[in-house]
Amino acid sequence: MHTLHKVMSEYSVIIVTGGSSGIGKAFIEHAQKLNSNVVICNLSRRKPDIIFSQLNSCHVPVDLGDSAALSLASDKVLSHLAKVAATGKVLLINNSGFGGYGRSDEVERTHQLGMMDVNMRAVVDLTLRLLPLLKQRGGAVVNIASTAAFQPTAFLATYGATKAFLLHWSLALNEELRGTGVTALAVCPGPTATDFFKRAGLKQGAVSDRWGQTSDQVVITTLRALAAGRSQVVSGWGNWLVSAFAARLPKPWAARIGAAVLARFRLSRVTQASEGGK
Ligand SMILES: NC(=O)c1ccc[n+]([C@@H]2O[C@H](COP(=O)([O-])OP(=O)(O)OC[C@H]3O[C@@H](n4cnc5c(N)ncnc54)[C@H](OP(=O)(O)O)[C@@H]3O)[C@@H](O)[C@H]2O)c1
Repeated sequence: MHTLHKVMSEYSVIIVTGGSSGIGKAFIEHAQKLNSNVVICNLSRRKPDIIFSQLNSCHVPVDLGDSAALSLASDKVLSHLAKVAATGKVLLINNSGFGGYGRSDEVERTHQLGMMDVNMRAVVDLTLRLLPLLKQRGGAVVNIASTAAFQPTAFLATYGATKAFLLHWSLALNEELRGTGVTALAVCPGPTATDFFKRAGLKQGAVSDRWGQTSDQVVITTLRALAAGRSQVVSGWGNWLVSAFAARLPKPWAARIGAAVLARFRLSRVTQASEGGK
């Protein structure tokens, strides 16, 4: 707990995307508990159902899939921070994202393109817009990728590819930022009990209590990795083992095994059109 307090108390500002549910909401709850002075700015379409304990915290409603709206939201965040929290380190958590289960030609094309916009383009856009502030004040960029980043993910093809992009981009960014006072951390959660699965088109309860993690576990892993100055972390030992194995396989083998696993455990449970990007 001491480590978590220490790492969180380093930041005067946290900018998080997707704080309206799941992992993003857990980030806000932990941040408020660990640092009562931190100013939080959340960017998502829905307002988080959380009472912000810090008066200067804000929710900026935005569809991150819309580049003009993202530009306006980023300007709003920058002018708000200039007024209420003009000094101290900044933590940017790029967490918003969604998936869509099914064969590529059966998942709506616009859903997949929207996924690419939110999971990749919006992350790069928002980070580049905020990086001058982070470099000026010091800070860190946390990118929520996935264990899906370590192998091709048939029946979740576009989603897995967006997360592979995010993992590689985050690691490269971290190298470029050496010596600037800013770091980048790629976080790779495995199955986590949130609305993700339902919104990606699966029946509710697709994460078994036995194998899945909670959002709190992902947040705690992230804060420990930040404290340790790491550039990549897989959340949970089981997920780490599977990812380490998958990453070492020749890509075509990993694709074949991944397809068999996803078909067995997930594809049969696709019950509805995915709704994450709508
Ligand atoms: N749950 C898992 O098993 C798992 C595993 C690995 C990685 N992840 C990653 O973890 C991150 C958080 O997901 P979660 O599991 O917490 O799922 P979640 O409960 O469905 O939360 C997703 C968040 O993303 C936001 N979002 C989606 N589309 C958006 C858009 N167009 N504009 C702005 N915000 C948008 C949502 O906010 P609004 O709907 O209010 O806009 C919501 O707050 C995602 O990047 C996901 O890929 C999840």
